[in-house]
Amino acid sequence: MNIHLQEEPGFFVPPELIEGVRAARRIVVLTGAGMSAESGIPTFRDALTGLWSKFDPQTLATPEGFKRDPALVWGWYEARRRGVMRAVPNAGHLALHDLSTLHGIDGLTIVTQNVDDLHERAGSRQVIHLHGSLFAPRCLACGRPTEHVEQDAAGLKDDGSDRAIPPPRCQHCGGLVRPGVVWFGEDLSQQEWRQALERVREADLLLVVGTSGKVYPASRLPEIAENNGAPVWVINPDPDLDVGAWAVWNATAATALPALVGACIAEKG
Ligand SMILES: NC(=O)c1ccc[n+]([C@@H]2O[C@H](COP(=O)([O-])OP(=O)(O)OC[C@H]3O[C@@H](n4cnc5c(N)ncnc54)[C@H](O)[C@@H]3O)[C@@H](O)[C@H]2O)c1
Ligand SMILES: [Zn+2]
Repeated sequence: MNIHLQEEPGFFVPPELIEGVRAARRIVVLTGAGMSAESGIPTFRDALTGLWSKFDPQTLATPEGFKRDPALVWGWYEARRRGVMRAVPNAGHLALHDLSTLHGIDGLTIVTQNVDDLHERAGSRQVIHLHGSLFAPRCLACGRPTEHVEQDAAGLKDDGSDRAIPPPRCQHCGGLVRPGVVWFGEDLSQQEWRQALERVREADLLLVVGTSGKVYPASRLPEIAENNGAPVWVINPDPDLDVGAWAVWNATAATALPALVGACIAEKG
């Protein structure tokens, strides 16, 4: 079995968290954009810099924005999709997979707001994608999933003057193909949301990693866990993050998670 521990001598792991992980039978890890930051994938705010700095989420991440300018929006998601394909899972993604295989817990479920596939590429199988995926395009008109067709973006200018890429057409009805992500103002997939709620209600520990907690309804999950008696731990390097009464560990995903898993295994003997 591969263990992806990164030895960080002297790296402080809160003892209460080690205890909590060791005692837990069912753990849910809620992840956000910060989980993938150390894989080089920008968080939402960071992604709106450079070429995209003159656009806002209303333009790029809403159904109205797509209807107004499908090629601009498709081009933005293509750029992100290609960025994710070039990235690799970081030590944090790998540590979560290790935790599920090594610790002997009955279940570790990852509930992610991320639209990348880095948890899966790290080996994790129980991953619930609340906000969809960059790799699951579907038809805007008939809703059918569409195979991803590689479009030739060669020749796109770096100054962004032609960053737009016209979306492909649905092979069934000829409608426009849209990214398979949940945009602002859209409902989550009910199936994914129900599954996430179920797992969170059954959990006896919730880890919240790399999310600012501002996107509803994912932001409700910590409170739901807590109401069901599960301790909530936040792992986030931002010392100013408002986490209310929850326990917080100010550290990054790729340093904290391997150290945590290493400590749990070491203590187990
Ligand atoms: N990788 C992706 O799939 C991706 C990337 C960007 C945005 N999004 C989408 O944008 C929305 C933004 O909400 P959000 O809360 O996920 O992200 P966010 O951008 O609002 O917040 C990111 C959080 O991660 C923290 N962070 C930064 N670096 C970190 C690190 N190395 N380790 C741990 N934490 C770190 C920040 O302090 C911040 O609190 C989500 O709906 C998500 O679907 C997804
Ligand atoms: Zn169609």
